[in-house]
Amino acid sequence: MARLHNKVAVITGAASGIGLACVRRFAAEGAQVVGLDLGEPAADQLWDLNPAPLFLRLDVSDEAQTQAVMQQVVERYGRIDVLVTAAGIASQGSATQIETATWQRMLDIHLNGCLFACRHVLPQMVEQRSGSIITFGSIFGLQGCDNNLAYNVAKGGINQLTRSLAIDYGHANVRVNGLCPGLIDTPMTSMVKEHAEFHAYFASQHMLSRAGRPDEVANVALFLASDEASFVSGQMIAVDGGFSAGRRFAPPAA
Ligand SMILES: NC(=O)c1ccc[n+]([C@@H]2O[C@H](COP(=O)([O-])OP(=O)(O)OC[C@H]3O[C@@H](n4cnc5c(N)ncnc54)[C@H](O)[C@@H]3O)[C@@H](O)[C@H]2O)c1
Repeated sequence: MARLHNKVAVITGAASGIGLACVRRFAAEGAQVVGLDLGEPAADQLWDLNPAPLFLRLDVSDEAQTQAVMQQVVERYGRIDVLVTAAGIASQGSATQIETATWQRMLDIHLNGCLFACRHVLPQMVEQRSGSIITFGSIFGLQGCDNNLAYNVAKGGINQLTRSLAIDYGHANVRVNGLCPGLIDTPMTSMVKEHAEFHAYFASQHMLSRAGRPDEVANVALFLASDEASFVSGQMIAVDGGFSAGRRFAPPAA
């Protein structure tokens, strides 16, 4: 039996990277996937999927749009079993460098975007007395990173948002967990990859001595979305090749 048979899964940030990997993995496990994003993925990313995912346009920082889209999903499919909030953007800058508008946009997309999606899906999940929400933190929400203020703060906020939702809605059998990826090669981190030396250094800080792939994150999201994780809630799970385990001061033994 497919692990998400008969489940309806809504995924934000679904057109690219980790969100798109979740679309593909979840659909392969039988879910009816609804992908939400500013754009759509290339058609060849979707043609082999059955059931075919539905893609709808959404700016996650717009609450009215989010509410309308979630209503549309419920009207069409009758339920929402899984929500993945993967929409996100990167930014750079310290407190004295970052433009206020950039800071605001980061919080709007990462924190408000996650909250809006959750709060317009939760009433349906509570009514169903079941649901699994998977948010996206980061290793930089667990520890900080230089020159990355808004991202660090937004991702740190996701940790507490995730725990708060798990506390408030667990009574209705709604599970809420978050993933904290390490360096994953996606369009978001393409600028890291362009600097080969920096990419190699960053990758070497992961105990597996490499960057991760989007499907390696989607596999963990699949577990959390499935009934196999029926007693897992309120957790931020690092999918980081051991990055958050600690520091390595000497090169790894050959
Ligand atoms: N790639 C990594 O190394 C890494 C590490 C830790 C955490 N993350 C987090 O994982 C999530 C996915 O990242 P990714 O690497 O797949 O990025 P990505 O850039 O490949 O994909 C992000 C998607 O979000 C969409 N998006 C951006 N703003 C949006 C908005 N306002 N409304 C709707 N959609 C919007 C983009 O269009 C894009 O399709 C993000 O939350 C990111 O912060 C990524």
